Amino acid sequence: MDAFTYRDGELFAEGVALSDIAARFGTPTYVYSRAQIEARYRAYADALAGMPHLVCYAVKANSNLGVLNVLARLGAGFDIVSSGELERVLAAGGKAERIVFSGVGKSRDDMRRALEAGVHCFNVESRNELDRLQNVAAAMEVKAPVSLRVNPDVDAGTHPYIATGLKENKFGIAVDEAEAVYAHAATLPNLDVIGVDCHIGSQLTSLAPFLDALDRLLALIDRLAERGIPVRHLDLGGGLGVRYRDEQPPQPEDYIRAVRQRLGGRNLTLLLEPGRSIVANAGVLLTQVEYLKHTEHKDFAVIDAAMNDLIRPALYDAWMDVVPVQPHAGDERLYDLVGPICETGDFLARERNLVLAEGDLLAVRSAGAYGFVMSSNYNSRGRAAEVLVDGEQAFEVRRRETIEDLYAGESLLPQ
Ligand code: LLP
Repeated sequence: MDAFTYRDGELFAEGVALSDIAARFGTPTYVYSRAQIEARYRAYADALAGMPHLVCYAVKANSNLGVLNVLARLGAGFDIVSSGELERVLAAGGKAERIVFSGVGKSRDDMRRALEAGVHCFNVESRNELDRLQNVAAAMEVKAPVSLRVNPDVDAGTHPYIATGLKENKFGIAVDEAEAVYAHAATLPNLDVIGVDCHIGSQLTSLAPFLDALDRLLALIDRLAERGIPVRHLDLGGGLGVRYRDEQPPQPEDYIRAVRQRLGGRNLTLLLEPGRSIVANAGVLLTQVEYLKHTEHKDFAVIDAAMNDLIRPALYDAWMDVVPVQPHAGDERLYDLVGPICETGDFLARERNLVLAEGDLLAVRSAGAYGFVMSSNYNSRGRAAEVLVDGEQAFEVRRRETIEDLYAGESLLPQ
């Protein structure tokens, strides 16, 4: 489904005109569709029906409480990477026992808080982290459930900044060393070894790397069982890509069908950590044209959203579609869409054929994942509002930051 469609000559989010949202909440504003988030989550959950599973939505993709609450109501699990994400999930009504805790740099405080809350599993990324977790759990007189994040050394074929499963990446434990680290983990009295985990990268557009990684992990799981270290779950991480332009990523059902075939008769619970594929296309960034600036070399549209609001184009050279909210007749020109920030890298899109006038509203599509969450206050710009649309209604799920918010935590030197 696509929740963002034109009706009577203007772009809607479900049953709400984006121009109404701009009038009510201003711009720039992130707009999400509840129905589309739910449909994308269900694509995973339905394909996994009939086998033990847990879909742990990767909170980093979009951590707005309203969005997390929509998923919690569907019974989703969550993949977190910080204490902040843990508290967000709990505040949004998510269940601790459906949380997996990933990330290479868990602090002792992170571990204590997650043990207190009772998370489902720690995805441990190194031998030293295992030893730290053992110490923290022993001091609390509890057992920590663990899975080791194994780095299967497969090429995800994605942008180098978001590929994580190669041996030169900082993530996980090399597949060749994993058996020895599992043997060590099994000797630690306050750890309960329950799973094997991997995450090879993000925005993958073919199944082959996932299935290569899966084969390597299944071989490891079989070897561990022979050594008397049986695991109960296999966590394949996230990473399924979405369409930004003309990509043809596999759908969750294709992926899960292929995984289920390979699992054979093994008695394993399957965990997945999808982020982008649940929320990316369920959101847009709504922005307004401030100025049109025609120079000898280029036509610029200066818009009110900038790299601080959406950094993917500047950081990864990511291509994101930009469409008019109320298309109108006029001269089409080749525009660079740039923000008000004082950097040449401040663009959201380059060389787009558009008919524009000052004051026009634009929607940057596929901005529901790694959009607001990566925003900053650079140039002392308050962060955008976030609106969640549900049918005919629009709810402001995060208010726009005010100028006072910007320096609320700061102070002057004493006299
Ligand atoms: N699990 C782990 C351990 C991860 O590191 C990630 C993403 C995910 C799950 C979710 O992956 P997804 O299904 O969303 O691909 N900021 C970048 C993407 C960074 C992804 C980091 N890890 C971007 O804007 O493209």
